[in-house]
Amino acid sequence: MKDTNRKKIVVFSGAGISAESGIKTFRDSGGLWEEHRIEDVATPEAWFNNPELVTMFYNQRRKQMMEAHPNEGHLAIAKLESQFQVTVVTQNVDDLHERAGSTDVLHLHGELRKSRSSVDNSLVYEVDGWELTADSKCELGSRLRPHIVWFGEQVPMMAPASEGVMQADILIIVGTSLEVYPAAGLVRIAPSKCVKYYVDPKATQISGVNNLEVIQGRAGEAMPKLVEQLIKQYGC
Ligand code: OAD
Repeated sequence: MKDTNRKKIVVFSGAGISAESGIKTFRDSGGLWEEHRIEDVATPEAWFNNPELVTMFYNQRRKQMMEAHPNEGHLAIAKLESQFQVTVVTQNVDDLHERAGSTDVLHLHGELRKSRSSVDNSLVYEVDGWELTADSKCELGSRLRPHIVWFGEQVPMMAPASEGVMQADILIIVGTSLEVYPAAGLVRIAPSKCVKYYVDPKATQISGVNNLEVIQGRAGEAMPKLVEQLIKQYGC
């Protein structure tokens, strides 16, 4: 049962929170979208034209995720649960928030550790190990695809994510360039009384977002400090 006296914190995270775990971001220099074209690996057309390449791309991501460990940033976010009601809304497809101990994590862009049927979106499975192959099939006999939201697809978790953000007392935006919509639009629907923080080495003020403190820094260094401050200031 939720303790309603506790303040509600929503953490909205992006690739930068996992950067210090050795997982590449997308748009920084040397990022994933410099090495791979989105249209080759992250669209329904890519899957239709070359499922081998798409499967291989996400196999590599899954393998890397399994070899990685949560960093100080993920761990600090998990620690918030000792004092607050916390929902993590992440654009990341890795499971490092969960492995750090966060218990309420919404994945807007899907999850590497899951696969799903290519003919029925409701058939979702845990991937056993890191590798999907052409022989990985759903119970209907169709090929399994990565459980990832590709460009041009619906983002089914937007509805619960929006609901969470609209109820937030505190919003922490961390490690995201805020370039991809509809996800990035979430930061604009938080209540005006909600206290907001943006933690990222490239963080700036965000137009249309009030009550925002900009913290320019790495998540692994800045998040533990911010979490200590929040616990002192707003903890129960
Ligand atoms: P981006 O690659 O666009 O942005 C990464 C952000 O992380 C940048 O703002 C960096 O400054 C910041 N950053 C780098 N190192 C950091 C650190 N140590 N601590 C904190 N921040 C750091 O990644 P996202 O904003 O997550 O979607 O990208 C959003 C979506 O675009 C992804 O979910 C993915 C991608 O295309 C899909 O694939 C659907």
